Amino acid sequence: MSRLFRGTFLDTPTDPFTGGGLRVESDGALLAADDGTVADRGDWARLRAAHPDAEVVDLRGGVVLPGLVDTHVHFPQVRVIGALGMPLLDWLEHCALPEEARLVDTTYAEGVARDVVSGLVAAGTTTALVFGSHFAGAVDAFFAEADRVGLRVTSGLVVSDRTVREDLRTTPGRALEEGLALAGRWHGLRRSRYAVIPRFSLSCSDALLAACADLMAQVPGAWFTSHLNENVVEIDTVRTLFVDAEHYLDTYAAHGLVGPRSVFAHNVHATGPELWALAAAGASVAHCPTSNAALGSGLFPLRAHLDHGVRVALGSDVGAGTGFSLLKEGLQAYFVQQLLGTGPGGAGMPLAAPHLLHLATTAGAAALGLEDEVGQLSVGHQLDAVWVRPPDGSTLDVALRHAASPEDALAKVFALAGPADVAGVWVGGDRLTPA
Ligand code: GUN
Ligand code: ZN
Repeated sequence: MSRLFRGTFLDTPTDPFTGGGLRVESDGALLAADDGTVADRGDWARLRAAHPDAEVVDLRGGVVLPGLVDTHVHFPQVRVIGALGMPLLDWLEHCALPEEARLVDTTYAEGVARDVVSGLVAAGTTTALVFGSHFAGAVDAFFAEADRVGLRVTSGLVVSDRTVREDLRTTPGRALEEGLALAGRWHGLRRSRYAVIPRFSLSCSDALLAACADLMAQVPGAWFTSHLNENVVEIDTVRTLFVDAEHYLDTYAAHGLVGPRSVFAHNVHATGPELWALAAAGASVAHCPTSNAALGSGLFPLRAHLDHGVRVALGSDVGAGTGFSLLKEGLQAYFVQQLLGTGPGGAGMPLAAPHLLHLATTAGAAALGLEDEVGQLSVGHQLDAVWVRPPDGSTLDVALRHAASPEDALAKVFALAGPADVAGVWVGGDRLTPA
């Protein structure tokens, strides 16, 4: 039976950075087709009259947004969120990598997979590009849990062969072999796709990066993701490891790993030549603002990225990031640009609520090549949605009741909403119910 979703729908089908803005459907309706797409949308009264027998999914109160798209999150790090006071390389050594080593135990990894998938869903994330584990069994566990719950994920084996602790190292041959086997099991299966993931150049030899390129060539449609220009000590170290590289990005570009299916996390300390090269390649950058603040990595130059034509989306970067909520990442992205200064002479990019929603939805979809499928609530797109409906009497509830406009309501959602306000999440019209 067809279903009609009723509520106030907000999305950004046109880019607010280039003259577009917020689309508002107050007391609107979305008609769900059997294939999970939106078959029709518009005014509730009109759609109800046209579909009098449809089952009604009543989402009145609060707002309905497109499912959020997280373009950078680490599956093995959910249990170490919240470590404070360390810069990147210390945090990796003392906090993140000891936990990642525990995923050698597949039973442990299965528990972590349940934690991360339920955390993503609870935060309203419906699509994610996910750094997997260094262990193939753990990567299988993650894909299996995401598939069971119905999340859209692009993920894969993380590989390193130097500088990190021994038990997380692989070899180029093994990386290729395990990557091919994992991609064979998961790439293109229902909502899952495979990503090739060298951890970062700092932990990879040229031979390993070449194996990554080989894997990309052998898995048509695979995605590529890694880290880039996050921390100044990291960047200096990469310079000493790759003496022939012109800059950090070049360490990947030398192996043909910078293209339209590449997503680089952070790029806080980007240089002009790197920004031009990213734009020319059609590659994307995952901006991870809570992580950048927590690790003291720096203030993200969003304006420089956009001025060069680089595509930017948002990532939670759990576990350096402080949670799964892309609403919080949007707010933090706004704070960072304010701190950079948006007045005369300031380097910051002035952001309003529609920009934040775009970064958390349509921009993420574009970075993942899914712009025709997710990120907006348009006819023909998948019905991936998050219902933000705060508890009665909460501060967000009060704020929404006093919002001056839908855009004002959206700003209040970014300022105040968290997982406790996520009342329901749908992917392809199916309500997700994590364990
Ligand atoms: N660079 C290499 N590995 C990591 C990681 O796990 N988190 C972050 N933020 N940066 C990294
Ligand atoms: Zn990361």
